[in-house]
Amino acid sequence: MREIIVSGIRSTGNLHLGNYFGAIKNFLRLQEEHHCYFFIADFHSLTTHPTPQDLVGKTRQVLIEYVACGIDPEKCVLYRQSDIHEIPELYLLLNMNAYKGELERCTTFKEKVRSQPDNINAGLLTYPVLMAADILIHKANKVPVGKDQEQHLEMTRTFAARFNRMYNVNYFPEPVAYNFSDPLVKIPGLDGSGKMGKSEGNAINLADTPDIIRKKVMKAVTDTGPTHENQPMTEAVSNLFTLLKVMSEENTYQHFLQQYNQCSIRYGDLKKQLAEDIIRFTSPIREKIEALNSDNLYLRKVLHAGADKARESAAKTLHDVREIIGFKDF
Ligand code: TRP
Repeated sequence: MREIIVSGIRSTGNLHLGNYFGAIKNFLRLQEEHHCYFFIADFHSLTTHPTPQDLVGKTRQVLIEYVACGIDPEKCVLYRQSDIHEIPELYLLLNMNAYKGELERCTTFKEKVRSQPDNINAGLLTYPVLMAADILIHKANKVPVGKDQEQHLEMTRTFAARFNRMYNVNYFPEPVAYNFSDPLVKIPGLDGSGKMGKSEGNAINLADTPDIIRKKVMKAVTDTGPTHENQPMTEAVSNLFTLLKVMSEENTYQHFLQQYNQCSIRYGDLKKQLAEDIIRFTSPIREKIEALNSDNLYLRKVLHAGADKARESAAKTLHDVREIIGFKDF
């Protein structure tokens, strides 16, 4: 069945390998089969008060990198949230039925209160309402997001159901997370623990040059090496093998695994190979990033076309919602 899918992209700037094998790969599959709306969530990023240059620069970079990865503006509706004025209007309307108590109980809000105590603005508190507006504006039924967004999605369902009940209509669907049949590979970081993340500083970016990639991989944390056969791996080394598994040929992976199990491994050799395999993978993407970066005309065309398509669906929803609420001719 062709589902209506909406997903927001945080406008955080450079994407890394973890993003590619997570959200982006899923988007690439979804755009082939469903009616997808993918947007850059630039209103959401205002909660942290970026400068104007930062806001536009990061939005542009994210757009470039998504397109370079193969997100195809011909196959999905790719747009910038702030281009669609219907979204803030629906946000305003939904805010009237979102209660202070439930917003304050939201985990991400409580985390922000802790992490940015000097900037607990109303936008942070109502972040889940804006996210609900993003989703409900296209009457989406599926949202491809990870576990960390499940509570926001739950709140979206609450707001949708509350609206339907309040006006005695069956207008908004209650959207659920899109479940992929095969589990995502979690791309680990290079620092010996956890997953690859922008803020962790352990990431390989899609735009990194071969030299930078080699440097980063060669600096990856390892250990002093196995001392007996078939020794269990430390987390740092196991992470390198996970990367090898994803980035390299199966026989390369098996080769180093055998060397590890026989205690003859030299981590330097593994890293050299891994770096080259990562470069082989990222080079075509990096080249597209560079080409798009100097093609402002095309980027603008993409955003305009995306905004036109997104607005079509958004305007229809907002028109209906206004009528349902009672904003209509008399
Ligand atoms: N909150 C999401 C995140 O942090 C981004 C987002 C904003 C989003 N609006 C959305 C995701 C709507 C899915 C649907 O990643």
